[in-house]
Amino acid sequence: MEKILFVAAEGLPYIKSGGLADVIGSLPQAILKKGYDVRVVLPLYNKIIDKFFDELKLETSFRMKVASFDQPVRIFSHVSKGVTFYFVENQGYFERDGMYGYSDDGERYAFFQHVVYFMMNDLKYYPDIIHSHDWHSGMMAVLGRHKYGLQNKEIAKARHYFTIHNLLFQGNFPSSLIVDQFDLPYSLYEDGSLRFHDGLSFMKAAIVYSDKINTVSNTYAHEILGEAFGEGMQDILRLREHDLWGIVNGIDIESQNPETDTTIAQNYTVKTLTQKEKNKLDLQKQLGLRVSKDVCLVGMVSRLSFQKGVQLILLKLKDIMGLDIQLVILGTGEQQYEYDLRQSENMYKRRMVYYGGYSDEISRKIYAGADIFLMPSLFEPCGISQLISMRYGTLPVVRETGGLKDTVIPYNQYDKTGTGFTFRHFNEEDFYYVLRQAVDLYYENPTDFKALQKNAMAIDVSWDKSADLYIQMYNA
Ligand code: GLC
Repeated sequence: MEKILFVAAEGLPYIKSGGLADVIGSLPQAILKKGYDVRVVLPLYNKIIDKFFDELKLETSFRMKVASFDQPVRIFSHVSKGVTFYFVENQGYFERDGMYGYSDDGERYAFFQHVVYFMMNDLKYYPDIIHSHDWHSGMMAVLGRHKYGLQNKEIAKARHYFTIHNLLFQGNFPSSLIVDQFDLPYSLYEDGSLRFHDGLSFMKAAIVYSDKINTVSNTYAHEILGEAFGEGMQDILRLREHDLWGIVNGIDIESQNPETDTTIAQNYTVKTLTQKEKNKLDLQKQLGLRVSKDVCLVGMVSRLSFQKGVQLILLKLKDIMGLDIQLVILGTGEQQYEYDLRQSENMYKRRMVYYGGYSDEISRKIYAGADIFLMPSLFEPCGISQLISMRYGTLPVVRETGGLKDTVIPYNQYDKTGTGFTFRHFNEEDFYYVLRQAVDLYYENPTDFKALQKNAMAIDVSWDKSADLYIQMYNA
């Protein structure tokens, strides 16, 4: 049985800041079901300690001496739905309130990646496949090739795969890290392989050294080859075009299921879709909106960043609130957006709510209670929320980019096909135009609206097909 190790910086049910955590919390299980030994390794952050420490098993402890590191390490483990998760403990680096955004991030994730190799040697666990995700684990392949593989044949044999969840975040640091933190030869900088804008780039290292690379949708895999979405890496990516795959994300359809979700007020299926409105009433009550089953409720669950298109909503808010709707937005992010949303909420009391925080419970209630879901992203490698909203029969309004384009089928009024509403150009007028179409359909043509909801609930958003594609990529 082939052994696969996922190396990542976050994963559910332990810790989440973005969609990466959803993938790390569900894709391994899907691959495991196909007959592979899949494990995951994550850093042990404070939040994981708070919630899970009593359940963690101590696997091993050792002192790690490499480059400028000389530190004690403990490795813990925990099993989630059949998948073993390893956790790398280091108080100085990971027991902080947040996860990323510290000035020593380069050093922290250099440490993490060294530990993963030390752990393999210590546990005599040698994966056939090392599958790394986003910049935090971008140096795994080069460390395998130019350092740990030179010392150990088992490590040298491993194949390396890398998934780009978001090319915007690249892990770019001063070139001195190459020698000081990674103990790699400086010639790898001089010959250009690790060099990006006069520094070291973890992302570039992954693109150059992995056997295969993928992003989380076909459209995004194509978009990043151009200047607009290539984030400066387009030329490097083009060199690897033949090894670049696009594999769309799935979701955990057992946990995200309106039929069995225990956090929502009323369960429902395609057949009992009329029951869905009870969730609207529940959400309105809980958030202090005017309670009415007839009003069109528009929801959004998102990180508040420019990537997610929050600015389009804010720019057009007056017109949007001029429609006969209620608006609920959940998320945290850039301060200016949070501030603007808070101000707007005051202007539209009982019609608009901004929930400034993360809550799995309220998110689920929004997916279940809303009629329309907003995701007007500037770019979107895949996007997970639109998949969840469709599964809950809540029609997404999305921009035709990345995974949004690949997963949401636009409404066609002639043959009644579609699972949502889409617009092409990133501007507030086009966004508003389709949102208004969606709201009009809700009020003026409930039959079609319902047909779309049924279409949306029927599409396959499971990991099944994509897990097969990952296995194909591992074997290509
Ligand atoms: C990132 C991307 C998002 C994707 C997720 C998981 O958060 O922005 O589009 O769905 O990673 O792959």
